[in-house]
Amino acid sequence: MPSFHSDGVGQDGQDLLIMMLDQQAELPSVQRMRAWAAQVLAVKAGESALDVGSGTGSEVVSLARAVGPSGTAVGVDPNPAMVAAATSRAKGSTARFVQGTAYDLPFPDGSFDAVRCERVFQHLDDPHAATLEIARVLRPGGRAILIDSDWDTAIMHPISPEISGALSAAQATRTPNRTSGRRLRGLMASAGFTIDDIGSEAVIFDALTSAPMYVAQLDAAVEDGIITRAQADQAATEVEHGLATGDYLFCVTMFAVLGHLA
Ligand SMILES: C[S@@+](CC[C@H](N)C(=O)[O-])C[C@H]1O[C@@H](n2cnc3c(N)ncnc32)[C@H](O)[C@@H]1O
Repeated sequence: MPSFHSDGVGQDGQDLLIMMLDQQAELPSVQRMRAWAAQVLAVKAGESALDVGSGTGSEVVSLARAVGPSGTAVGVDPNPAMVAAATSRAKGSTARFVQGTAYDLPFPDGSFDAVRCERVFQHLDDPHAATLEIARVLRPGGRAILIDSDWDTAIMHPISPEISGALSAAQATRTPNRTSGRRLRGLMASAGFTIDDIGSEAVIFDALTSAPMYVAQLDAAVEDGIITRAQADQAATEVEHGLATGDYLFCVTMFAVLGHLA
């Protein structure tokens, strides 16, 4: 299963990652969280705004609309395939995209009025360094919003608890910072931010996004030797039955923390 924090993902893997981001962007819960985040970050005309780990770039296009022609909206992502996809999709917008990592943002100190970063920190080995780097590129008084999932809040109903527990353990080995959501507040406080607000939203996956995700997770867990093929088949049957009868709930809680620098 391709991941957002590994190198060497081929074109098929990149296409799958982009498709997953597009499907997730359609989820009402993701849209609600993004709308709230945009409202409280309150980017204004003429400002400069950055999206760290910008993926397919949709939120940078929104930032570009908010800052208008006199402002700047930039997305940064280490994955050249994401930068290329975002650049091609943003034609007609003033949004621009550059390759780079959250650990070493390719901008001088104090470049931005506002920074957003969504569902990226879970993929980072050193989220503290990334938070300091976000603070570095903000001007005095600048604000940031960090948004991320906390995978220890995941519900995978109706997969039996024994197998869903094994899936969580398998995912823990592939997600460096799986409890990222609960740590955002502390990270921002330790990087010198005053915390202004915290929001949360359960990302509720629909049938379209659930089925391929759980089948891929089950296959990966078999490959890793964490569950047997028989257990994976049993769980796949449970998922199919749940989806067919409507008795399913696949979700994870996402948290967002807004802060500003002195
Ligand atoms: C789950 S996607 C989220 C993309 C986008 N922020 C969104 O919410 O749709 C994670 C993104 O983080 C990027 N990423 C991974 N490691 C990163 C790093 N060290 N610095 C910045 N971005 C990173 C990935 O390339 C990917 O685009």
